[in-house]
Amino acid sequence: MKQLELLYSGKAKSVYRTENPAELVIKFRDDITAFDGEKKDTLADKGSLNAGVSIFFFGLLEKNGIKTHYIRKIDDSTMVARNLTMIPLEVIVRNIAAGSIVKNYPIEKGTPLNPPVIVIDFKDDTHHDPMLNDDLIYALKLSTPDELRVIKQIALGVNNVLRDYLDGRGIDLVDFKLEFGKKDGIIYVGDEISMDSMRLWDKKTGESLDKDVYRTGLGDVITSYHRVARRIIDGH
Ligand code: C5P
Repeated sequence: MKQLELLYSGKAKSVYRTENPAELVIKFRDDITAFDGEKKDTLADKGSLNAGVSIFFFGLLEKNGIKTHYIRKIDDSTMVARNLTMIPLEVIVRNIAAGSIVKNYPIEKGTPLNPPVIVIDFKDDTHHDPMLNDDLIYALKLSTPDELRVIKQIALGVNNVLRDYLDGRGIDLVDFKLEFGKKDGIIYVGDEISMDSMRLWDKKTGESLDKDVYRTGLGDVITSYHRVARRIIDGH
């Protein structure tokens, strides 16, 4: 597998072309950002910790019949993924109220959301990722009604798999963000599923085990990521 030129560099990952047009190389970097890129750092091991957890979750989803872009691992921070046409939506599933829903609406942090709440934002940095609704998604031609129905169905399926798995590890899945891509009419889960894209609370102590540790500046992010990655992957 030859890694060719850089196609895209996001806030925490770089995507490279390969000699196979159907496959991309995705490298998880040690960069971490928050608040629309206002807070930035580079933290050793962060890339490999998020890559490890993402690869583990993609494997778990595939075992449960959910299609993802993951193909194989190259090294601790790099994977090969399907080359998809990405859909610029950030699909957020919320099981417990936290973060922007608490900031923007009269709902108390920690309130259980049953059924889960799906919120979809437009992945567009220049407009600061505004929230969409179904009509806006169609007006902006971001997806068709059929695709959106499938996207929401997959998002809820992912939620069931991850929530049950994490529950068994003593962790509450508060919320998480997914991105999707298409290839030959099939919709796949893309991007990453990591501590950067989820809220995870220890069931016993309520402690945050995710990027909120960085956002709030309330602890050592890498120690926290190491601990939760071990808990997720190895179960201890
Ligand atoms: O900020 P907010 O509360 O809307 O985030 C909901 C979830 O989506 C959180 O788990 C957060 O980490 C994730 N998210 C993300 N990338 C974004 C926005 C939110 O991974 N651009």
